[in-house]
Amino acid sequence: MEISVSYLSSLYSKEKTIMNIESTNANYIHVDLMDGGFVPKKNFEINDIVKLLKNHELPLDIHLMVFDPLLYIDDLAKLNPTYITFHLEATKDIVKTIEKIKRYNIKVGLSIKPETNILELMPYLSIVDLVLVMSVEPGAGGQKFLDKSINRVEILKTYRENNNLNYKIEIDGGINDETIKKVSANIDIAVSGSFICMSKSYQEKINLLRK
Ligand code: DX5
Ligand code: ZN
Repeated sequence: MEISVSYLSSLYSKEKTIMNIESTNANYIHVDLMDGGFVPKKNFEINDIVKLLKNHELPLDIHLMVFDPLLYIDDLAKLNPTYITFHLEATKDIVKTIEKIKRYNIKVGLSIKPETNILELMPYLSIVDLVLVMSVEPGAGGQKFLDKSINRVEILKTYRENNNLNYKIEIDGGINDETIKKVSANIDIAVSGSFICMSKSYQEKINLLRK
């Protein structure tokens, strides 16, 4: 299982938090981008994000919580991210968005909110590289893990096996050293934010998640 660290809630500035993450053996920096439309809060200007992350060393796992993800892909491609993930609920142009991300040779993720029927993912599962299951309502760090996510990742894993598909399964929201045990058998990547970044010893927390 890989660990992707979200710097959304942190004791330090974004710059310092990213430096701290870079000094661990995390697998990715999870970049949460919120537009103040798809989710209530806005937390970025695209130029600032490009500046903030342009010298990154760890691979980037970008999570777009925005309406109209097509608008941001050209700029985000400059960061050479490993994944760009957008929400199933955010756009009607799902296939067009998947194709645009792929044209840059970036892996595509599709994310689903806790209340959305998992069956809505099915038409896209053979053309995405990753499914990001939200285990909290998107929009803020530090929320409580929703237990109904346990079954959702299990369904996605079984479906992948039965249909010979290759997408990775990622979970995001409320992941700590306890909640991770509920899903670890069925996921490939765990996002964790406040559990790591609201502490002063990032590597220790990551080690606990990997246990
Ligand atoms: C929530 C974000 C998450 C969040 C994770 O909208 O997508 O990535 O920052 O933070 P924790 O681990 O604190 O739930
Ligand atoms: Zn996220």
